[in-house]
Amino acid sequence: QKVRVKVPASTANLGPGFDSLGMALNLYAWIDMAISDQTRIQLIGDQMSGIPTDKSNLIYKVAQMVFDKAGVSHPELEISMYSEIPLTRGLGSSASAIVGALAGANALIGNRFSTYELFQIASRLEKHPDNVGASLYGGIVVAFWDEVRAESIRIEPDHNLEVLVAIPAFQLSTEKARGVMPQHVTMKDAVFNLSHSSLLVAALSTGNLEMIRLAMKDRLHQPYRAALIPGMKTLLNECEDHGALGVALSGAGPTMLALVDARSEKKTELEMFLQDTLAKEGIEAQLLWLKPS
Ligand code: HSE
Repeated sequence: QKVRVKVPASTANLGPGFDSLGMALNLYAWIDMAISDQTRIQLIGDQMSGIPTDKSNLIYKVAQMVFDKAGVSHPELEISMYSEIPLTRGLGSSASAIVGALAGANALIGNRFSTYELFQIASRLEKHPDNVGASLYGGIVVAFWDEVRAESIRIEPDHNLEVLVAIPAFQLSTEKARGVMPQHVTMKDAVFNLSHSSLLVAALSTGNLEMIRLAMKDRLHQPYRAALIPGMKTLLNECEDHGALGVALSGAGPTMLALVDARSEKKTELEMFLQDTLAKEGIEAQLLWLKPS
């Protein structure tokens, strides 16, 4: 028996919702999994070089955790993965591999675990629930994790919400992007983020797209991470003048993300502004129009 799982990419934080907001996007990874006589791992696609294809592979290891938890003794696995999700760019590629591995292994044992149980395992593995929550549940997810349990509430994305991403050609590890953040922030910055994140959740829940403009501001992580991404500061300050509802670093970056009203007449202007701003810094970037998934 072979199972196939399709998992969406995700963007985390959406600006102020650091480690607590995520949105699934319509770029996908497909993972096939079957119990076999010998472990074989095949990664299809040109960006897969360097990813291990032995038993140290993340998908293999996460799948074995599910079998362990179910009391099934370690089976050999035939795994193949094809992914459209660019690696290490802030679009949830590792979360998609974790979610795909959990869902695939779970399907092989007759879905013994609920999605909620898989969410607990995934959050513990990632240590933040925003990407895995979005990849598991789809849509926009308020993802809660207090290091003991994970909870989530899904928000149905407004049908006019579109996403323009600028994916720089360079990679940036989450570890590095978390490493530049301070250990402590001021009460003023904490309150700033609390009010902006709350407003953003309310705006997204009620389809108040105009309010996103005000709400998508952050002081907890983006000001520190901006030093790692040339052009980011200009994009954060000026994209809204060129037709974006709001702009943010996608997850830990380096991808930049703009939320756009599908009815906007400034889409081409926004594309050009993103491309030109990054080009001026010598950054090659791929632009993609996406939808919440
Ligand atoms: N919320 C996480 C971060 C997402 O910003 O570090 C990383 O993928």
